[in-house]
This record gives sequence, C-alpha cells and structure tokens, in this order.
Amino acid sequence: MAQEEPSPRWGLMGTGHSAHAFARALATAPGTPLAAVGSRTRARAQAFARTHGARAAHDSYRRLAADPGVDAVYVATPHPWHHTHALTALDAGKHVLVRAPLAANDLQAAELIQAARDRDLLLMEGSAPRHVPVQRLVRNMVEQGAIGSLLSVHAELGAGLAHEAAHPFFDPEHGGGALSVLGTYPLSLATWYLGELTVLGAARQLAPGRTVDTLATVLARGGGGATATLTCASRPDTARTVITGSAGRIEIQGMGRATDAVLYRHESGPERLHRELGAGTHRLQALELARCLRQGLAQSPLMPWSHSRALARAVDRVRDVAELLQDPSHLTGAGRS
Ligand SMILES: NC(=O)c1ccc[n+]([C@@H]2O[C@H](COP(=O)([O-])OP(=O)(O)OC[C@H]3O[C@@H](n4cnc5c(N)ncnc54)[C@H](OP(=O)(O)O)[C@@H]3O)[C@@H](O)[C@H]2O)c1
Repeated sequence: MAQEEPSPRWGLMGTGHSAHAFARALATAPGTPLAAVGSRTRARAQAFARTHGARAAHDSYRRLAADPGVDAVYVATPHPWHHTHALTALDAGKHVLVRAPLAANDLQAAELIQAARDRDLLLMEGSAPRHVPVQRLVRNMVEQGAIGSLLSVHAELGAGLAHEAAHPFFDPEHGGGALSVLGTYPLSLATWYLGELTVLGAARQLAPGRTVDTLATVLARGGGGATATLTCASRPDTARTVITGSAGRIEIQGMGRATDAVLYRHESGPERLHRELGAGTHRLQALELARCLRQGLAQSPLMPWSHSRALARAVDRVRDVAELLQDPSHLTGAGRS
C-alpha cells in the first residue's frame, strides 16, 4: 500500500460528479491539497470551492490552468472534451490526470501523449480498476503463475440505469453510450493482462431512436493467443471479471470498487482473496500521480501510455467493426425498469 506522502497542489477542471468525488477523496487525509477549481460558470466554481475549501475558484478552465498555485490538474469533464482540456493544462505546464478514457479516440490520445512528452510533464489516464488493491493482488498472482498459462479474460460492467433515463449516459453530445462511458474499464483490465488487443468482432445494441449504444460486446485476442470477452451495458447492475488459466481461474466481484476475489485451482478448494479498498480509487490515483512525480516519471507503470494508446485503438476498432443490433428489451418490453 502506498504511503501517504506530500502531494502536488491540485486543480480540478469541471464541477460534476467526478470532480466532487475527487475533491472528497483529497479531503480524506492531509497532504493532498485542493488548491483550485475551474468551471465554465463562475457561480459553480465558487459554490464548489466553498463546499470543498479550495483556495481559488476560476471561471474558465484556461484560468485554472494558468494558476501558479496549481501543480497538477484533474480533468473531470466529459471525454469528448478531454483532448482540449488536457491540452490546455499541459500547455500551461501542469501535470495532468484525466478521468478515463484519456481521449475520445486514438489520434487524440496520441496527441496528448506527445504534448506531455514535449513538455516533460506527467500525463496519466485514471483507470480506476488498476488502482484497486484486490485487482493489483490478482494481477500479481496471475503474473506469478497462480493459474498457469493465461487462456482468457472475461470482464463485464453494467451501470444499472433504465434505458429511458434522462441521463448524460444516453446523451451523444456528452459522449454517452455503453462503449464510450463504460467500455474503457473492461478493456483496460483485458489490456492489463493480455497487452494490446486484436479486436476479432463486436456487437452493439441501440435502443430505438437512440444513436448511443446500451450494450457492447467485444471478442478480442491478446498476446500468446489468449482471448478476451468483454461486455459493457447501461441496464444490468453488474461488475465481474474472470481470469482463466491452464491451472485454474480467479473470479473478481466488482471492478472499480472491488474488495473480493476467489481463486479456484484445479487441485484444491476455493481460496478467498480480500483486500480493503481503503481510501478509494480517486485518492489512490492522486497518490500514484504524486509517487510518479517524486520518482521523476512522466507516466505511471500502472497505466503506461502504451496501454492508453492500445485501449483507444481497441475502442476505435470496435466502433469500426461492430455490428449494430436493436436492443431486444425494446422489442419485447421485457425487463423495463
Ligand atoms: N469510465 C467510466 O466508467 C466513467 C464513468 C463515469 C464517467 N466517466 C467519464 O467522466 C466524465 C465526467 O463524468 P461526471 O459524472 O463527472 O460528469 P458530470 O457530472 O456531467 O460533470 C461533467 C462536468 O464537466 C464540465 N463540462 C465541461 N464541458 C462540458 C460540456 N460540454 N457538457 C457538460 N459538462 C461539461 C461541467 O463542469 P462546469 O459546468 O463546472 O464547467 C460538468 O459539471 C464522463 O463524461 C465520462 O467521460 C467515465
């Protein structure tokens, strides 16, 4: 577990759910100061600053980025704008943590990485599951051969939302949809275990009258011929990963907030694995960025740039090849909530 060490002075871009969660996480221990917040609206910036005790409230993201009292910026805006907003911060000389996904596509991800490289700044995609203690435990066990040679990774993530909900998840202007909003997590886990994925096929379900998908399923191949089957969906309330090897399998319940997993070996009974989530993934991401800065790293070994690029390429490829299907629950009315 990482030590609680001095942190950069944080500035938050955006005042939505993620920004509030990040600010609350910073407040859970001393040494991770929230210096400033930036919003498109002065009143929202001021209200957010009052709530979380930020020193400064800026009425634009550019002013936040220019604030000399800020060392690192958390980009908590919708991902169609991550490229613009992260570049604003990098151009102003700030280190950047971006709420996953890093960008809307691989071209944008590549440009952000190049910008960080050119300016000698740290850039990190905040892929929550990779910071979760039990996920890291399982990843280490698999690497050390606990289940033999890796055969497959299956991961599924659902948001538990009704299809009809008036929610940014379903708003194409907001970059909504199962693949765009949720897909990054199962794809990130699969990439963690298997390296760059070759997408073999994909399907996406669309509700009538909607241009965003409510479900996406991906079949991919990783290094050494292991396979990945990944599903993300708006309606089911699910989060689960099964990593299967030649000598057993490990099942993890939950994804970004997982605490428990079970190891099944062919020759012995189930073994329960447990790790407390501790301070939560926002805090763990802030600590990881601080650790990388202290060690002079421009990228985190937990989420290296090559993985952010591989992930963005996989999402681009899924968009290109996916067969578009009608969401069956709208044909039958079954399962409406
Ligand atoms: N990977 C995942 O599972 C996952 C899950 C949830 C979210 N996300 C990502 O994280 C992003 C932020 O999530 P959230 O729940 O914090 O969203 P949110 O509550 O809607 O907040 C987004 C904030 O971004 C700012 N913003 C800047 N440009 C905007 C625009 N054109 N439209 C709307 N808001 C804009 C707004 O702040 P101001 O008005 O103060 O400027 C807004 O409060 C999502 O859009 C998604 O990309 C990923």
